[in-house]
Amino acid sequence: MMRRAIRHGAKLSTTWTGNLQPSTAPTADAVLANHHVDRQRLSSKSSPATTRDHDPASSTRHDQQLAKVEPSSSPGSRRRDPKLVPFGSTKIDKDPHRHKSGMTVLPAALHDAVDSVLQGTPGPDIRRHALRIFDSLRSTSGILDGKNAPRLFSLLHPEQVLTKHHIAYDANLARAYLVSRMPHNFVAVDRALRELFKIRPDFIPVSALDLGTGPGTAIWALRDTTAGAATLVTAVDVNAAMLGVAAEVGKAAKWHENAVFSEFMPANPNAAFDLTMAAYLLSEVEDPKMRANLIKTMWDLTGDTLVVVDRGTPLGFQRIVEVRDWVIKQGNGTVLAPCPHMNTCPLANDKTRDWCHFAQRMQLPHKTQLVRKTPTNIDDVKFSYLILRKTSSTNTSSTAPSPHPRVLSPPMKRGGHVLLDVCDPSGHAARIIVPKSMGKDIYKDARKVGWGDQWPHGAKVSVPNRGAGRFADVAEFTDVADKKDKKDKKPKKPKKPKKPKAERVTVEEGDVSPAEPDFASLSEGMVPRPGRVVDARPPAAPDAGKAHAASAAGDGEPEGSPPGAPSPPPTPRAGRRSPRRKLFTQ
Ligand SMILES: C[S@@+](CC[C@H](N)C(=O)[O-])C[C@H]1O[C@@H](n2cnc3c(N)ncnc32)[C@H](O)[C@@H]1O
Repeated sequence: MMRRAIRHGAKLSTTWTGNLQPSTAPTADAVLANHHVDRQRLSSKSSPATTRDHDPASSTRHDQQLAKVEPSSSPGSRRRDPKLVPFGSTKIDKDPHRHKSGMTVLPAALHDAVDSVLQGTPGPDIRRHALRIFDSLRSTSGILDGKNAPRLFSLLHPEQVLTKHHIAYDANLARAYLVSRMPHNFVAVDRALRELFKIRPDFIPVSALDLGTGPGTAIWALRDTTAGAATLVTAVDVNAAMLGVAAEVGKAAKWHENAVFSEFMPANPNAAFDLTMAAYLLSEVEDPKMRANLIKTMWDLTGDTLVVVDRGTPLGFQRIVEVRDWVIKQGNGTVLAPCPHMNTCPLANDKTRDWCHFAQRMQLPHKTQLVRKTPTNIDDVKFSYLILRKTSSTNTSSTAPSPHPRVLSPPMKRGGHVLLDVCDPSGHAARIIVPKSMGKDIYKDARKVGWGDQWPHGAKVSVPNRGAGRFADVAEFTDVADKKDKKDKKPKKPKKPKKPKAERVTVEEGDVSPAEPDFASLSEGMVPRPGRVVDARPPAAPDAGKAHAASAAGDGEPEGSPPGAPSPPPTPRAGRRSPRRKLFTQ
């Protein structure tokens, strides 16, 4: 599979159209030619946003295709309408920083499309193939690297020990991928794209490239986040079976006419797409040289923005760091998210034992739940991502990285303060403390802020390099926070002096302690006042030390009673009810 890796600049010899009518699908050259026209028009605009002017004279095939999807092609109508954001529980807040991501539910159109593609495929077959995919993913998760690698057993053949392997997707595996992995990948890409459109609400990509498209996951996410705004998409994958399934699913949802499916990179070396996406691709490519080529290719093909999404594991994070480092080294790109800075990633250091990743809650489709045999239909998708913007002749006003720290883990809520692990704009991972004394609203925000959100309010205490690692000593921080917090609190009322603890005294038999319970009154149901505990046993013999040692060694005798000594007189049992209680119950 790897030998068939895409060569940049290779001639576009195949345009995969699957079962589509050849006449309805635009050729890659047509798309790129149209795209070129769009880019020229864009470059003549002063605004960096890629919203196009409507120019009837230069109407292209692309425009005609767009018109099929859009009721009106006026510039205003191409802006995303926030009301159209389809996920039920995902709200668009007035203040983007108070936006809570909620739970992602897959669009109904995707459900229907997958159902129609899988029609007639037996469930057990899908599960068997899905287990092969899971085995491959687990074996390449990085856990099997290194000397002390644990032994992993196959899910499909539980008696087999897993060895590292990538699978070549055939038609069956590609179909199983639709149910087993695509929903999760969709959710991750969707969340990354939402982040992009939150940062750049005016950005509407006219053309997009999905590199390593698989079943077209990123295209679905793009269509979802742009509320169906028509974008010409080029879907590239070395695997023909995957491309076939991508086209089938696209056809079922009727967006395939705006897409080109290809096993090869665009032939035009000057081709650049407004948006390039690469989801879960780099963790599939083992060879570092091939990965470096792929990173260069995806950056060369990016006209404006590049979105890379990968596994939320240390391995996935490493791949993201590779892209980030390479692009920063080129000097023609800005990191838009998640990093609020362009310095070296503070978590890219082995010693931190942590990695930058985020989580998004999702509702599992029913079929996925059956295939995965999960007890609930809720899952948290862990992922790493990176959004980069290219500085080019057409895009001169590069967006600066966000000035707000990014929250790197779920907030740690303590009494009266919240601890947040953040990546701050100075390029440090820090642990910040937000106490109640910073204000009711800020404190409330700190308790509600989500993992992966930006934190705009600052902090009372910020300790650099301590957010690096959820393994950092939380207790130590809690102490610091507590001390800080206590200063802000009103002085507490002085505590009541504690009652003196009962002391154990040995008395001679016959002695009467001043606190001796009044046995006569006990027999009437009275409870003795708490006082000294009286040990009425006989005095210890001079050689009793040995016996004590024996009992401490656990010889079964109760502590303090030498073996053979007469057992102490039975302790009188106190009445269970206090006199007052007795009164009440009467
Ligand atoms: C793990 S799948 C991810 C699919 C999809 N992007 C998603 O998120 O669901 C990786 C895909 O990348 C493709 N792939 C692997 N190496 C590639 C390369 N060098 N160029 C293009 N595609 C590649 C594989 O065929 C596979 O379909």
